[in-house]
Amino acid sequence: MSDNMRFAVFGNPIKHSRSPMIHAAFARQCDVKLEYRALRVELNDFQRAVSAFFDAGGSGLNITVPFKEQAAAMATELTARAARATAVNTLWRDDEGVLHGDTTDGVGLVRDMVANLGWRMQGQRVLIVGAGGAVRGVLEPLMRELPASVHIVNRTVERAETLASEFGVLGNISAGGYDDLAAQQYDLVINANSAGLSGEFPALPSGILGERSCCYDLLYGAEPTAFMRWAAQNAAWAVSDGLGMLVEQAAEAFYVWHRCRPETQPVIQQLRGVLAAAA
Ligand code: ATR
Repeated sequence: MSDNMRFAVFGNPIKHSRSPMIHAAFARQCDVKLEYRALRVELNDFQRAVSAFFDAGGSGLNITVPFKEQAAAMATELTARAARATAVNTLWRDDEGVLHGDTTDGVGLVRDMVANLGWRMQGQRVLIVGAGGAVRGVLEPLMRELPASVHIVNRTVERAETLASEFGVLGNISAGGYDDLAAQQYDLVINANSAGLSGEFPALPSGILGERSCCYDLLYGAEPTAFMRWAAQNAAWAVSDGLGMLVEQAAEAFYVWHRCRPETQPVIQQLRGVLAAAA
């Protein structure tokens, strides 16, 4: 076995994970020697698998669907943003054996929108489509950018209301169903609805976009997503998928572990090429 530090991402399914490629590219940039693998963990085996990984000398884990909440419950020390999200995508053990958890998804989203795409968040009217775990994971960093308002729309309105009341201390957050959207306009629409995974997208009224509205999909792929197609058809000013967020959340996790901040743009470009070639 090599002496490289060992990292992995745990998820189920995990087959299409790009994390090994992203972390390998960051490691080359930062001159860090590491191994990073994508491992599929059985649904009822998560805790054992995490303990076994660290007991065997593993240095850090990324956690993806469906284990982020379990990872948060398992960590002894949570960062403030992970505690608020009750979700963790980055785990490590310190020298005393204490398990730490952080979530870097929200920082990744904000960095992609603000630093990479140059979109303004401060003072903007934001609409979030969906109210699942992905939204819970990104709300705090989003609210820290001081949007004028955030409205969460969801098929199950209670889930949106729960998020609005839990995160309401951070700013002006409201919640509702799709039927109540018609009369409103938004500067930024973020799609976190997993229906897009099967190529569907809940019908949004066309009038919700203004002249300079931006649309961001947390999903990504070689082709524009169903939400991105809707945004283009409705004359959105700018449209993006979530590939940049994927790379930025990985960069933040890499920074947590290695204290080195890699350049993300070349890795985003590289990944675009890989997705296009695989299509
Ligand atoms: P994630 O971790 O991706 O957020 P999730 O917690 O299962 O996954 O949340 C999925 C989101 O997509 C939810 O907002 C869900 O709406 P409900 O809370 O009403 O279930 C939404 N969603 C999934 N399939 C949908 C569909 N066919 N129509 C409308 N919304 C859908």
